[in-house]
Amino acid sequence: MDKKVFIFDLDGVIVDTAKYHYLAWKNLANELSFDFSKDQNEQLKGVSRVRSLEILLNIGKINLSDEKKQLLLDKKNKEYLEYVNRMTDDEILPGINQLLTFLDQKNIKYALGSASKNAPLILKKVGLYERFSAIVDGNDVSKAKPDPEVFLIAAKKLKKDPVDCIVIEDALAGIQAANNAKMTSVGIGDKNLLHEADYNLSDTSKLTVDFINKLIA
Ligand code: BG6
Ligand code: MG
Repeated sequence: MDKKVFIFDLDGVIVDTAKYHYLAWKNLANELSFDFSKDQNEQLKGVSRVRSLEILLNIGKINLSDEKKQLLLDKKNKEYLEYVNRMTDDEILPGINQLLTFLDQKNIKYALGSASKNAPLILKKVGLYERFSAIVDGNDVSKAKPDPEVFLIAAKKLKKDPVDCIVIEDALAGIQAANNAKMTSVGIGDKNLLHEADYNLSDTSKLTVDFINKLIA
């Protein structure tokens, strides 16, 4: 069997940026005079910035012109980047550093497959940018997860067949994208929400050497 490779989602897998996305969207909602709960925020995970705004405005039952929407997208991202710019390697999620070190030792390649246009900046902020063999982000794709495009581009960059790729994801749309790409999917988070994944783990600290060895065996 060919050697496996890994493709990591960013937000919620490598770093906990979901809380910053939430804060920025919530502040935007409050300015538009409606509230936005953490539960509702689940709908935005893995979803592109533009689609996130559409979902948010739908929740607030608000119709806006394209021009106004663009202003809000810029505003949200500006606030989000204020949080991102304060990030350090402390915000890498538990188990991730150890996992990347283990993969490096085994000479197993890994790529990033993220919907975020801010992915390169975030990876640089936490000191992981140089370690990925390939980075595919929101600037490279035309079709959002659950479309498999982001992961298929990553597989191509790693020169691997999809069947040899293992995707680590925390969003339902991301698990579906991995499954649509015919890759192995590992869901991080609520098992009920991510039941379509081939494997489920409650959080990133469960990405242990034992588990990874089983995956690549
Ligand atoms: C995904 C996040 O990784 O990136 C989404 O899960 C986010 O919540 C999307 O909307 C786009 O991110 P950005 O940084 O381009 O606004
Ligand atoms: Mg994610």
